[in-house]
Amino acid sequence: MSRGKFIVIEGGEGAGKGECVTFLARVLRDRGKKVITTREPGGSSFAEEIRNLIFSEAARVHHPDPLTQLNLFAAARIEHTIQTIRPALKKGRIVLCDRGFPSTFAYQIAGEDRRDLEPHFRFIDQMSRGATWDPSKNTWSGALVPDLTVFLDVDPEVGLERADRRTTGNHFDEKELAFHRRVRDGYYEILSVVRHVIIDANQPMETVRKEALQLVSAFLRSDA
Ligand code: TYD
Repeated sequence: MSRGKFIVIEGGEGAGKGECVTFLARVLRDRGKKVITTREPGGSSFAEEIRNLIFSEAARVHHPDPLTQLNLFAAARIEHTIQTIRPALKKGRIVLCDRGFPSTFAYQIAGEDRRDLEPHFRFIDQMSRGATWDPSKNTWSGALVPDLTVFLDVDPEVGLERADRRTTGNHFDEKELAFHRRVRDGYYEILSVVRHVIIDANQPMETVRKEALQLVSAFLRSDA
């Protein structure tokens, strides 16, 4: 059986990722594809527990350092990679994931303006995506890389207004506008290392969903 496809949907607050993932999964399933949807942080039993901690009242009150956050997101990603994503890909599934490692760079490094953490990010990012250290080559190898990353690029002002209208939210939504602008810049930086497509997510959600479907369908055809 051929390996499945790992597709990550990324974007800042209010970009409409969740909606997009649900829509893509429904249409692809209607076309007979075997799809699983998942998310980060979370996506496996224990990773969801780590998620609860990340968004807990305690985290809101104690403001853990971005280095602590980075490690928690990475810990959740290890579980998610091992327990959920790799097994699904092995079974030939299309894995549609709401957020992935680019979020960690965009939020904890760029958004938080903690460039001093970049070396740590590079190290833990490889490990958290299942890489192993290859002493003969003196390098990491085997990290899980998304086959395609779809970046829903929304203007932070537009996105925050959309997010404001939602009833659910977490304390990451409460950051100032400058933070979200840095997040967007961070995405552009980190996306350069992966195969990706960008959608203007300031457009009405219906248009965004349609474009996402076109791009993902084209990718699946080209990569079949
Ligand atoms: P969530 O409630 O899943 O909603 P949404 O993805 O729609 O914003 O929130 C996830 C939050 O976690 C979001 O504010 C981004 C943040 N995050 C990080 O800061 N680093 C990460 O590595 C990931 C995966 C998410």
